[in-house]
Amino acid sequence: MDAKQRLRELREQLTVHSHHYYVLDNPQISDGEYDLLFQELLEIEEEHPDWVTVDSPSQRVGGEALDKFEQVEHRIPMLSLENAFSDQDLLDFEDRLLRYLLQDTAPSYMAEPKLDGLAVELVYEDGILVQGSTRGNGKVGENITAQLRTVSSIPLRLLNMAIPRLEVRGEVFMSLDGLEKLNAQRAESGEDLFANPRNAAAGSLRQLDPAITATRPLKFFVYAVADPVATGCKTQQEMFVFLADLGFPVNSHIKFCPDIKSATQRFSELAELRHDLSYEIDGMVVKVDDFALQSRLGAKARAPRWAIACKFPAVQATTTIQKVEFQVGRTGAVTPVAILAPVDVGGVMVSRATLHNGDEIARKDLRIGDTVLVQRAGDVIPEIVKAIVEKRNGSEVIIKLPDSCPVCSHPLQKIETEVVTRCVNPHCSAQRLRALVHFCSKAGLDIEGLGKKSVEQLFERKLIADLPDIFQLKKEDVEHLEGWGTKSAENMVLGITQAKTPSLGRFLAALGIRFVGEVTAALLERTFLSLENFLQVSKADLLEIEGLGEQAANAIIDYLEDPAIQQMFVRFQEAGCIPLVTEQSQEKQLLSDEVLLFTGSLKKLSRSEAKKLVKENGGQVASGITKKLTILVVGEKPGSKLKKAQEKGKKILTEDEFLQLLQG
Ligand code: IVH
Repeated sequence: MDAKQRLRELREQLTVHSHHYYVLDNPQISDGEYDLLFQELLEIEEEHPDWVTVDSPSQRVGGEALDKFEQVEHRIPMLSLENAFSDQDLLDFEDRLLRYLLQDTAPSYMAEPKLDGLAVELVYEDGILVQGSTRGNGKVGENITAQLRTVSSIPLRLLNMAIPRLEVRGEVFMSLDGLEKLNAQRAESGEDLFANPRNAAAGSLRQLDPAITATRPLKFFVYAVADPVATGCKTQQEMFVFLADLGFPVNSHIKFCPDIKSATQRFSELAELRHDLSYEIDGMVVKVDDFALQSRLGAKARAPRWAIACKFPAVQATTTIQKVEFQVGRTGAVTPVAILAPVDVGGVMVSRATLHNGDEIARKDLRIGDTVLVQRAGDVIPEIVKAIVEKRNGSEVIIKLPDSCPVCSHPLQKIETEVVTRCVNPHCSAQRLRALVHFCSKAGLDIEGLGKKSVEQLFERKLIADLPDIFQLKKEDVEHLEGWGTKSAENMVLGITQAKTPSLGRFLAALGIRFVGEVTAALLERTFLSLENFLQVSKADLLEIEGLGEQAANAIIDYLEDPAIQQMFVRFQEAGCIPLVTEQSQEKQLLSDEVLLFTGSLKKLSRSEAKKLVKENGGQVASGITKKLTILVVGEKPGSKLKKAQEKGKKILTEDEFLQLLQG
């Protein structure tokens, strides 16, 4: 046999054996025999370096270190999940879903342990792992292909080809004993310890040098494919069999639940079982089993309607409030933060907790010096549950909110209808700093090298004072500062250059206008299609937009009318920062020019499903018979709206005609 043929054979054998070893936990040959085969493969590859392929088992050792992580856009966004904290929440989840589907027959579910690690996406082309990435903000993550190749239970090549392109999602995590060993080593070499398996997994994957990742005991379980229809599977249950056949590790505690009741029972079982597992889980994910139903249910902004995460009850601990600090946020809101005697809450050291606002402090009657119960539920930020009043000795001090801004000393304002106290000085440096941090962060323009710490540093050094200043930063400004170097300064400049042409939606979200988050900003992009249009908008225009409330409209108008803000837009332009409209929002969709309204009872669609269809096809949904309305869709017993629309000469469609229209 020639060497090339032998190499191919070894690759195949080693793939099968490592699947038996790492995935099925059932080795077919001894470690010694495996090592011999592996050694032989290494020898052939050493003699013929050009025969090494990306799916060779030799590639698990790591390879070259990267300068930085490239960005990867997920073809289909990686969503997150809504949380349920009780059986009732789970029953409500089913109620919502049935109402949405307009049906009485309940679906069946899959109940899966919720693994506490890091979500990743793996892309296979012709059965070979070609790309792996983190979830990131759901739309764009980081390319960590080289790091993921080092995870033994992630197949580098699939056991059969199945489909030409497969995008799977799952969780990379560290087992509890893996973490213990790793921390023992780190203690020995004087390194910081990882607080919990999730931080350890994340920290290990985000190593620029994959050879370091290779030394970390990481594992993987698959839980989804991006586009299930493409697999030919009809249900989540079928999909797990399909994925296991391809060589993916599937968690053995996943269970089919014929109804929601059995899902609640399964939750109690898992709450017991979790203590016997060798890895950490923080709850159970319940998913509608049927893919056709999943696709009808679709998703809201961040989470699908067909799945929910049931969280295990929070872990609690007691500590004391040492003092209270007041933080000034981006919008001037002054937030009290309790500084606590550091305490371990379920594996995480907690030393601060937000007290939200004055009302919250009064409601819980918290005082400085109090012994308090703190809790942490899964990935939720630690919070103070209550003061333990029996422990008081009289030395506790009432928490008093300041009258003036702790940063700029401007008098604070409290608006009757709001619970927060605000610093309304637009020049307050705390607000400007927060605005800068937000502008550069992942939720904003996501500028390479300008994370929170760096922005704070540059602000302190007076290198940046307001948003347009970012675009004037030069390599020479930062390269000699502490923590910087030529390379990182160059990367920052490159990042800033790339950030000069953000999508309009991203740009608007980055500005930090009150009530304008990612979703509203995307809506504004689709509506106005250019920054010029947006800058000339009137309140009436804004109120016509379905999905944008009065509060947001007011905030946008206040913002745009501020002369300092107008000046800022001029400076953005001078600096060459020109937001663009993404092709997606420009693309003419079926209902791009239409504003629809539904009236009467629909028979085939629920209201929310109908509205979703309109939005998915680029249309808007009106709230009444307005000037902008173009189509009224009538169900049975339409009422007065029909007459009104007819009088106004609007187009009228029946439910069936509407569905036909969507067929194109
Ligand atoms: S499904 C659209 N299944 O939980 C469905 N997620 O809060 C998205 N997770 O980012 C995820 N175990 O990191 C799913 N069996 C499981 C999971 C799981 C853990 C994590 C995942 C995701 C987060 C959502």
